[in-house]
Amino acid sequence: MENKRSSFSNTLGFVLAAAGSAVGLGNLWRFPYLAAKYGGGIFILVYLILAVTLGFTLMITEIAIGRRTGLSAINAFQKLDKRFGIIGYLACAASFIITPYYCVIGGWVVKYLITFLTGNVVAAAEEEYYNGFITGSAEPILWFGVFVLFTAVVVMIGVEKGIERASCVLMPVLIVLTVAIALYCVTRPGAMEGVKYYLLPDFSRFSATTVLAAMGQLFYSMSLAMGTMITYGSYMKKEDNLEKSVRQIELFDTALAILAGFMIVPSVFVFSGGNEEALGKGPSLMFVTMPKVFENMKFGSIIGTVFFLLVLFAALTSSISLMETNVSIVCDKWGWSRKRTTALTTVYVLIMGAVISLGYGSLNFIRILGMGLLDFFDFISNSILMPVIGILTCISIGFFIKPQVVYDEVEINGEFKVKRFYTVMLKWIAPVCLILIVLFAVAEAAGWIQV
Ligand code: PHE
Repeated sequence: MENKRSSFSNTLGFVLAAAGSAVGLGNLWRFPYLAAKYGGGIFILVYLILAVTLGFTLMITEIAIGRRTGLSAINAFQKLDKRFGIIGYLACAASFIITPYYCVIGGWVVKYLITFLTGNVVAAAEEEYYNGFITGSAEPILWFGVFVLFTAVVVMIGVEKGIERASCVLMPVLIVLTVAIALYCVTRPGAMEGVKYYLLPDFSRFSATTVLAAMGQLFYSMSLAMGTMITYGSYMKKEDNLEKSVRQIELFDTALAILAGFMIVPSVFVFSGGNEEALGKGPSLMFVTMPKVFENMKFGSIIGTVFFLLVLFAALTSSISLMETNVSIVCDKWGWSRKRTTALTTVYVLIMGAVISLGYGSLNFIRILGMGLLDFFDFISNSILMPVIGILTCISIGFFIKPQVVYDEVEINGEFKVKRFYTVMLKWIAPVCLILIVLFAVAEAAGWIQV
């Protein structure tokens, strides 16, 4: 007897699970930092325009491919056209590369949550605390392991009972906590300056790099070009409205990114007296600057604990989707059972992640293209593989497989309202934008341009 494919039980379950995948570390620290850096309101505006054009196009395409074929990336592309199975393999590579390092950062979040829970706010606010922790050996690997096990258990349980149920609990809590902290942060004395800085457009900072940075952020944030949305689409019921669901997922993802900015930018502003350096790049914003902010805030230890709890929830629903992407590709391709595949994937993630984690400590002599291990894997997956997969997806569907497959899928639930617009985006505008992202990433890595 053929195995019946699992599915999300209804539209809400699907939307919450897909939004759970989309809303993650990318929304919570990367978006606020980029918005602050690239001119506040103007970055947000550019991002919003890109979300409803480019983001919409890619997301509806991927979910439609998944639902149409009922398969994950490799088999889905092969089923549509034998020649394009390669796109699925690339997506598979990307998701296998991202999962371990995403979980390493997830482990850091667990550590900070525990630190805040046990009242060590003062210690956490020290720069050395962060450096001492991530350069260690056993401790970061331990918390990483805890995070991976949480993820694996949910994936092992399955689509409806595991992923859907986890998302339906975690996502509403996440929204409530984010809104509550954002409200608390913007009402602190002096926060309005930060809100202005965050929202008012600074046109002098607008440039082509603003658009390119927004585009890169968009794809990552919406979990596109990794096979994730294809996999989730394959679990979507035919009676759920595709176009509307995509709009809802996008709204969710973008709203949470903007709200995260309200939590972070004004707080950092109050704490640093308007010194923009404090909004420094990368994980240090979340793990060094934010604890300092909480240390100086009234009720900071409580707010800090809640903050890391919500970051943990966001990271978990994303890592679940990443592991699910890997697992469903292997199950579909090689016919293995979910249990066995999840167990083996977990072993792989644990080994790779441990190596990546040690990349900050005893293995920090390993440098590839001048980057440490985590940065290198991030670069390969997000800056190279992701846009390449995006380009190939647009071209293969736009010109060879033909957009009709997407139209058909969308039209199961009524009229495809923006069909013409979608087609132009898919065939022409999206590929050009994606090519620019790759060129930009390569130029940046080679040091030709400064970002
Ligand atoms: N979208 C997630 C985030 O914003 C990351 C992610 C990328 C998850 C690709 C799944 C697939 O953090």
